[in-house]
Amino acid sequence: MAEVIIVPDSESAGALVADEIVRLVRERADAVLGLATGSTPLPVYRALTTRLEGVDVSRVRGFALDEYVGLDPAHPESYRSVITREVVEPLGLDPAFVRTPDGSPEGIEHAGADYELAIAAAGGVDLQLLGIGTDGHIGFNEPGSSFASRTRVKTLTRQTRADNARFFDTIDDVPMHCITQGLGTILTARHLVLLAFGEEKAAAIAGAVEGPVTASLPGSAIQLHEHVTVVVDEAAASALL
Ligand code: F6R
Repeated sequence: MAEVIIVPDSESAGALVADEIVRLVRERADAVLGLATGSTPLPVYRALTTRLEGVDVSRVRGFALDEYVGLDPAHPESYRSVITREVVEPLGLDPAFVRTPDGSPEGIEHAGADYELAIAAAGGVDLQLLGIGTDGHIGFNEPGSSFASRTRVKTLTRQTRADNARFFDTIDDVPMHCITQGLGTILTARHLVLLAFGEEKAAAIAGAVEGPVTASLPGSAIQLHEHVTVVVDEAAASALL
């Protein structure tokens, strides 16, 4: 059963989760962080910048959840760029220790297996940050994704592309495909921390936390994990019973 923490706002959530990450890094200098992109984790990264001052982060490792396929890594909205801008640079992490799946078409056949090997070689993820899509996706595991899935290429739904169009000029600029850690990959992390803010996430959060465990709502896979913390504001918690 997930621990659900309801906080007044996203800033409080950021502070709470950042404190947990700092505790982890102080305990394990080579901690492995599972990094999410999108808007939701930004308050965590912001809160971490000040909290990590004076903490040795030179050995901290990171793995992003996903990447767009076919988007130039130098594009400002590639997840490589986002992770560099929002996490690696402000927190002073070693860029060589922070990976994103390789979304370049040339290497796509083995990119998923390579990523799985890299996560395993790092000893697995200690703390995995997660956001959730309005359709219940975690990572980019859209409805219908197998709970046993591993890092692989997926097609983004129209809804996810519409949700993410705000980062691009038009919805047509949002890539059609992504490479994402699978639900099975995510479930191997030792601690899952799922965050959500705003009423548009309420149904997805209720389904993930209390609904049936079903591939129709991929976030419900968290119910199969024994150490899950869900941090939500009142609006995102509003459909919980
Ligand atoms: C991002 C990711 C996605 C997002 C989700 C919510 O790496 O894997 O699952 O967490 O799409 O996005 P935001 O936070 O922008 O609402």
